[in-house]
Amino acid sequence: MAYLNSSVQGAILNRYSSREFDVTKDITHEDITCLVEIARWAPSCYGDQPWRFLIAMKKEHPDSFNFILNSMVPFNQNWSQHASALVVILADRKFSKNGDFNRWADYDTGAAAQNMSLMAYEMGIMTHQIGGFDESILKKSFMIGENLNPLSIMAVGYEKKQPAEPRNRRPLHEICFFGKLQ
Ligand SMILES: Cc1cc2nc3c(=O)[nH]c(=O)nc-3n(C[C@H](O)[C@H](O)[C@H](O)COP(=O)(O)O)c2cc1C
Repeated sequence: MAYLNSSVQGAILNRYSSREFDVTKDITHEDITCLVEIARWAPSCYGDQPWRFLIAMKKEHPDSFNFILNSMVPFNQNWSQHASALVVILADRKFSKNGDFNRWADYDTGAAAQNMSLMAYEMGIMTHQIGGFDESILKKSFMIGENLNPLSIMAVGYEKKQPAEPRNRRPLHEICFFGKLQ
């Protein structure tokens, strides 16, 4: 198939989430800004761009880094403490144009997060997203307003070791339906 050699396909297929970060290597402000720059080109309902990114660089913002870390379940704290930065990915669920509830905000923000992961992969940077955190702790620590929904925390850094387990996906017949769902 013609698309099988596209550059975007390489990033999609080869990106993976490692839990082994190299503590001797830090990502720069410029690197992380580049990831957010790319994230914001995701499509969004009404072009509202509901994604928000709260970035804590371990060396520059140690207090914020620890607040984010402390919101996680212990398993996630154990490995993500070695990341160079933690990024809280939030969705603004209120449309900026009229204040109505934006039921696509989370969907759009997920697309922006994926842009970020793919760009990071291209830059040789490791990302690993985390859903195992306590939203209420995070909301309290950063006085996050009620419209903002913290969806995911992205651990960012340089990789020390590739995961041992192979990546796998559901087969197409389980997820793709032509004409009808059953
Ligand atoms: C929204 C979201 C939440 C996740 N939560 C966790 C988590 O709490 N802990 C963890 O170790 N990995 C977490 N992951 C990583 C997934 O386990 C991982 O992406 C999945 O196994 C596929 O592996 P791959 O990213 O290498 O393709 C999360 C990923 C996403 C997108």
